Amino acid sequence: MSLPHHTPVLLQEVLTILDPRAGETVLDVTLGLGGHAEAFLKLVGVNGVLIGLDADVQNLRLAESKLHALSGRADCRHANFSAIADLDLPPIDILFADLGLSSPHVDDPARGFTFREEVPLDLRYDRTNGVSAAAWLAQVPEEEVARCLHEFGELPSSKRFARVLKERKPTTTTAVVLAAESVYRWRAKAVLPQIFQALRIAVNDELGALETLLHEGPSLLRPGGRMGVISYHSLEDRRVKQTFRVLSQAPKHPETGQNVHPPFFTLLTRKAIVPSEDEVTLNPRSRSAKLRAIMRSVSTPS
Ligand SMILES: C[S@@+](CC[C@H](N)C(=O)[O-])C[C@H]1O[C@@H](n2cnc3c(N)ncnc32)[C@H](O)[C@@H]1O
Repeated sequence: MSLPHHTPVLLQEVLTILDPRAGETVLDVTLGLGGHAEAFLKLVGVNGVLIGLDADVQNLRLAESKLHALSGRADCRHANFSAIADLDLPPIDILFADLGLSSPHVDDPARGFTFREEVPLDLRYDRTNGVSAAAWLAQVPEEEVARCLHEFGELPSSKRFARVLKERKPTTTTAVVLAAESVYRWRAKAVLPQIFQALRIAVNDELGALETLLHEGPSLLRPGGRMGVISYHSLEDRRVKQTFRVLSQAPKHPETGQNVHPPFFTLLTRKAIVPSEDEVTLNPRSRSAKLRAIMRSVSTPS
């Protein structure tokens, strides 16, 4: 199976900050094409384990074939990371997430994420679950469509565009493009990425899944374990930043306000790590990436 071209984002920074060591257990909840996972697996070696999840079964199979060709133990599972608490996972040394879509989603029109070609309007990472973008638009009330377009895509005139989408009931990407042209005229081309981003976030419940990951993930870490997340837009980064900040504060007594315990987690990134100019030049898709990480204190009970 030949792999589409893919460059893992912030790879060196991820390895420096999360510091995978021989014998460790790594959980990569967004395998994609296995770019980061391959580097993790090489570093944990034959005594370590790499557990990889992806909601997209096509990506999962591609990553699996790449990882199984290496020495080392790779356990690849078709799963959404929102189900992380139900996957019967062992204690983890490194939990890593590289959010959003992968290069094949953008580059291969057959994956249904592009607005540059006419394909069925789907936008799901996992087509075995949930509903397509076309079905979602048909099902949800106009106000909800408008809210998603406004919140997830920061789209101007979101109410008017939501009304047009509800009237036209688009079932292909081209039908959405035509609807956008009818509302936004010459500005349509500029807002199409925002429209498709908003629909993708809604259909995959991306922010709900991230909140579950941020809620459940840290407790899977062994003492000394590290968790790192790369996000690509402010809606994601805000949630990661806020959760990691709260986790790295000392718990306080509700009445006295005194610290009752040292913090259970330490911030490994005071400020988000962003790609260098060189990386952005070589891989323009990395330009909005932000990496944040925490470490579970060694002294916390397992
Ligand atoms: C940016 S790519 C990961 C790229 C990967 N780090 C690499 O180097 O090849 C994100 C991947 O996460 C998957 N994904 C997105 N949301 C997910 C979720 N909630 N659960 C599991 N996988 C998800 C997508 O299908 C995609 O393959």
